[in-house]
Amino acid sequence: MQIFDDMQKVFEEKFGAAADVQKYFSPGRVNLIGEHTDYNGGNVFPCAISLGTYALVSPRNDNKTRVYSMNLADKGIIEFEMNGLKYKSDYDWANYVAGTIATLEQAGSRASHGFDIVIYGTLPAGAGLSSSASLEVLTAVILNENFNFGLDMVEMVKLSQKAENEFVGMNCGIMDQFAVGMGKKDCAILLDCNTLKYRYSKIKLDGASIVITNTNKPHSLVTSAYNERRQQCEHALKEVQAVKPELKNWGELTNAEFDELVKYITDPLEKLRARHAVRENQRTLEAVAALENNDLQKFGKLMHDSHVSLCEDYDVTGVELDTLAELAWKVKGCIGSRMTGAGFGGSTVSIVENSAIEEFKSVIENGYTKRIGYAPSFYVADISDGTHKV
Ligand code: GLA
Repeated sequence: MQIFDDMQKVFEEKFGAAADVQKYFSPGRVNLIGEHTDYNGGNVFPCAISLGTYALVSPRNDNKTRVYSMNLADKGIIEFEMNGLKYKSDYDWANYVAGTIATLEQAGSRASHGFDIVIYGTLPAGAGLSSSASLEVLTAVILNENFNFGLDMVEMVKLSQKAENEFVGMNCGIMDQFAVGMGKKDCAILLDCNTLKYRYSKIKLDGASIVITNTNKPHSLVTSAYNERRQQCEHALKEVQAVKPELKNWGELTNAEFDELVKYITDPLEKLRARHAVRENQRTLEAVAALENNDLQKFGKLMHDSHVSLCEDYDVTGVELDTLAELAWKVKGCIGSRMTGAGFGGSTVSIVENSAIEEFKSVIENGYTKRIGYAPSFYVADISDGTHKV
């Protein structure tokens, strides 16, 4: 494979020839529907995509690890000792690698030597396609493979999420790591984030494709705004729990049940946040049922409603994502479009008839560039398998 051949040259240049070089691939993810529901105990419906992170890995005899990213050549080789790792700003992007190593170690899976690693990513950075989860699960799989820890994928997914929460400080839910680790070719995953029960749902789009459109918005402060949304939902839940102690999370309620309880939430903004969490969860279940009944039009309509709710109730879209979605809704042959991932920038996901993709790109590129001042990028997504050794 061309990518690995190119990586091999870089590997030799940076680390010298190595006899025992292993190859890995870890995908990114796109969420079709179910946004900001994972940490609210609701359902999500993501899939792993063929854009992702490639790694060439060679075990070392000592305890040192050296990592080099071909995408971030200016950061050079980043080095650390394998045991007792702590977050360091000098580690930069490699904190995702270090964090996963440290989290596995704390859970009893201690590495007994280090590695030389070259990374090459095809996921655009900051596009909301989970390049960080891709790197975390990749690291967990490399360690599990080399040290025979015997962890199953769901355990590695949970540890990767923990690394992101505790080592990096992003209080994310489990969706991204789960989609990356558990992805399956041509399938989306319906995951109940409360119980971690999941099932695969075959995606047959009958002459249509999943198109990802990247806002290309320069990096914004996603972490603080994201953590704030999460706190608002948790605070609102506490207020409702005061009158309904058996309620564990927002994912347990129907829309009608929520409408009865909303009066117990004092803060008007928190009412909206919680309303989104409940409605988006119900919408996700409805959308999966529609897709499985081959009712693509209904699925598209629910994608639209999801975006509107993320804009009006959850306030995580912003002018860039709204512009992309609003332009997409007007294109004939675009079945549905919405923001995907955390929001505040990043990407939209759209389902577009194959015959309309060129028109879709040109209408959006023109309209978006005119309004925002720079162009978006487009990727037609293939649904891929989860993280694996190649
Ligand atoms: C980010 C987080 C996920 C999820 C989404 C929003 O991608 O990492 O856990 O909360 O935002 O749905």
